[in-house]
Amino acid sequence: MFLNDYLSKNCKEKDLILVLKNLAKAAIQISKTIKKVKKNGTESVIFKTKNSDGDIQKPLDILSDEILVNFMKMSPVSAYASEEQEGYLNFKNKNNLIVFADPLDGSSNIDVNVSIGTIFSIMSKNNLPLDSAFSQEGKKQKSSGFFVYGPQTTLFITVGKGTALFALDESNEIFTLIDEKIIIPKTTSEFAINSAYKRFWDPRTSKYIQNCQEGDEGPRKKNFGMRWVGSLVADASRILIRGGIFLYPADRRIKYKEGRLRLTYEANPVAFLVEQAGGKAINGEDNILNVKVNNVHQRSPLIFGSSEEVLEFKNS
Ligand code: F6P
Ligand code: MN
Repeated sequence: MFLNDYLSKNCKEKDLILVLKNLAKAAIQISKTIKKVKKNGTESVIFKTKNSDGDIQKPLDILSDEILVNFMKMSPVSAYASEEQEGYLNFKNKNNLIVFADPLDGSSNIDVNVSIGTIFSIMSKNNLPLDSAFSQEGKKQKSSGFFVYGPQTTLFITVGKGTALFALDESNEIFTLIDEKIIIPKTTSEFAINSAYKRFWDPRTSKYIQNCQEGDEGPRKKNFGMRWVGSLVADASRILIRGGIFLYPADRRIKYKEGRLRLTYEANPVAFLVEQAGGKAINGEDNILNVKVNNVHQRSPLIFGSSEEVLEFKNS
């Protein structure tokens, strides 16, 4: 089955289908842009600017955002918020859908040929002024997903009827179904966290990770493995396919006291996909999809993955 067939089968909203098809076209263009070899060296030597957050912004981040903006302007979308834009872009029309995006997730992996991706989330404006529309909780998402530019270009997508996985057939540029209903295994013995920040963690995170590391000699009485790619899309991709738990807690660093990941275009879309695949996603206490949005660029702690393991963390 191809992406278009899946959308016709699982989604009755014409506008939503159009937006999703255009996001897929944008992703194909982004993946081609990433694959282009620059004659004068790597992307990063060409120019570096800073985004509103002070992070180094590389040309590919900007190019990916531009590609998405162009495709969203051609879609039945009234406004677009992205990590690379201040606030949101108002397309000044009467369309009903709004789009949130992280155009190129995994910035530290862009120059080193490690998987990166594009994350998106789509909501209805629900007749709200745009400021309020962009502050709707994650449970209002109509669809979310992410593309991974890795060994294969893949797409995890939900329109609220489970989570499906597609891979791009590069010979004809068609996303082809790999799995119509992804189920995250309930149990796991694999965790993902950047342990370099251990000294900044809260006591619960420290204890939980210590228990995992003690393996069959500790209270968990089983051995764990650890994987951390450092691109949310790649770590989420692994967890959606074979289970695991991902933790990016709030920590004592001033910049990340609310967590590092962005609620509306990282945590929310991943949480929707994870829930639709039978997993759980929380900010430590609450379901991510119920977290109040005060600012479209706000950060949130994010813990997600195999349901039993997320509960183990939550109740610890
Ligand atoms: O978009 C933020 C991001 O690059 C995610 O893709 C990733 O999960 C995280 O940051 C990695 O953060 P750190 O560099 O602190 O490990
Ligand atoms: Mn990101």
